[in-house]
Amino acid sequence: MAKAGPAAKAALHTRPEEPLWWQKGVIYQIYPRSFQDSDRDGVGDLEGIRRRLDYLVDLGVDAIWISPIYPSPMADFGYDVADYTGIHKLFGSLADFDRLIADATARNLKVILDLVPNHTSDQHPWFVEARAGKKSPKRDWYIWRDPAADGGPPNNWLSEFGGSAWEYDKKSGQYYYHAFLASQPDLNWRNPQVAAAIHDAMRFWLDRGVAGFRVDVIWHMLKDKGFRDNPPNPDFIEGRNPYQRLLPVHTTDLDEVHGVIAGLRKVVDAYPDRLLIGEIYLPVERLAAYYGANLDGAHLPFNFALLEVEWSASAIADLIARYEKSLPSGGWPNWVLGNHDRPRVASRVGEDQARVAAMLLLSLRGTPTLYYGEEIGMRTVPIPADKVQDPFEKNVPGLGLGRDGVRTPMPWDGSPNGAFTHGTPWLPLDTEFPETNVQSQRNSSHSMLALYHALIRLRRLHNCLSMGDWRLIACSGTLLAYTRMDRDSTVLVTLNLGDEPLLATFPPSVTGRLLLSTFCDRDGERVAGEVSLRANEGVMVMLDAGVELPAAG
Ligand code: NOJ
Ligand code: MG
Repeated sequence: MAKAGPAAKAALHTRPEEPLWWQKGVIYQIYPRSFQDSDRDGVGDLEGIRRRLDYLVDLGVDAIWISPIYPSPMADFGYDVADYTGIHKLFGSLADFDRLIADATARNLKVILDLVPNHTSDQHPWFVEARAGKKSPKRDWYIWRDPAADGGPPNNWLSEFGGSAWEYDKKSGQYYYHAFLASQPDLNWRNPQVAAAIHDAMRFWLDRGVAGFRVDVIWHMLKDKGFRDNPPNPDFIEGRNPYQRLLPVHTTDLDEVHGVIAGLRKVVDAYPDRLLIGEIYLPVERLAAYYGANLDGAHLPFNFALLEVEWSASAIADLIARYEKSLPSGGWPNWVLGNHDRPRVASRVGEDQARVAAMLLLSLRGTPTLYYGEEIGMRTVPIPADKVQDPFEKNVPGLGLGRDGVRTPMPWDGSPNGAFTHGTPWLPLDTEFPETNVQSQRNSSHSMLALYHALIRLRRLHNCLSMGDWRLIACSGTLLAYTRMDRDSTVLVTLNLGDEPLLATFPPSVTGRLLLSTFCDRDGERVAGEVSLRANEGVMVMLDAGVELPAAG
């Protein structure tokens, strides 16, 4: 055997570090109320998730993030936590949780929990104690202020869920701050005892084997020390979400918040290989700061730009380029197409483009996060007025802000309630579930599920798709084209964002083999100098060795 000489040694040292699991992997968000019920109460639970682990393994995802499962009055469906170290009875018990982690781990699947440190439920013992009176030792765990001179709220800050962010407490004659519902009082993160208590809760779950946390509204966690009024938003459009009347400059995205996030990161970093994700709704340029000045912030500040971008080739190309450019050195990108708060992608961009969106998400550089049901093309389901559950819709009705429609039960097959429950589902299923469900799509090699399967498999198979560089190819009209490449291979991605066929032309030297069409019917085709795309079609091509493509200028 040849001996490794000095050159080989040097090569070893310059080899890029092994990618981390969450860089290479795909994350799948589960809204636990709606994934799988196991006890006939119409609400999904941990045992239900456990029974579906093989489905997730088969789909090919690496980690599941489960929305909150803690004890909670459910005013905001678990985002109002009454105990950070327990499991809500609806979802099961700690023993069920441990069983889920054990079975997931045995299948190489990681479990990420939702951490909600910005606020608690008003039923949390901490708040009950704080509310007992001004002298309560827990008083300063929350944000209390005297009324303004006229007796009204201390300033003009607004709740994201409508109305003032201040709730009057008759007993003490003071107001407390709540960025969301009045039953979700904000914790005071300027008090070190609050940080210590939440850090302890994190360790409780890390010790039980969770792979990390998705941190709720991380950019909200500190508010202005001087309680200055927020300025009006000059671009506010009447009839839109009333929260947008003001620019939340004194209530969100404070520079100081990065100290708080570094504190969370330190807790996570004391355990090997764990992940901290931050929920942040900000323009991509502002996300850079959330990696931390010394990369001591979130590993992944969620990038939600695809949820809102105008669905055109040029707007998306521009977005990706801006995002790539804004990333700090060493900051790992990520992309999200849907979640439990925003319209389903199939409804936002249309069912035809949903396949293109899937190929986009799973061929971009950066960790993709899928939302349950996207893999079968679930739509935003219209919810009749008498079935509305979401407190946001109840507080601010009629503006289309309600989130129930994106939280409907997963249809597993065509049997009653799609096999989601043997009871009465807490939200109605899409009326089309008898035709569109996991089972029906499993039986078709051209289904959306087949496409997701293939996309995830290819991402796993070809390192360039997960870890490679991203390069935009100059194009026009409805064509979006880019390459993903590493030392060994280059994949060309061509997406038709329009509903007319198009021919993407390249120099004749550009040759390769078609890996996948969004219609799952062209694998293996030879490509030379051009790629023909049908309406709403995306195609991935493995270029032949040595083929080079001119990048965009
Ligand atoms: C963001 C969560 O995703 C959303 O569902 C929740 O209502 C708010 N934070 C408040 O916790
Ligand atoms: Mg149940």
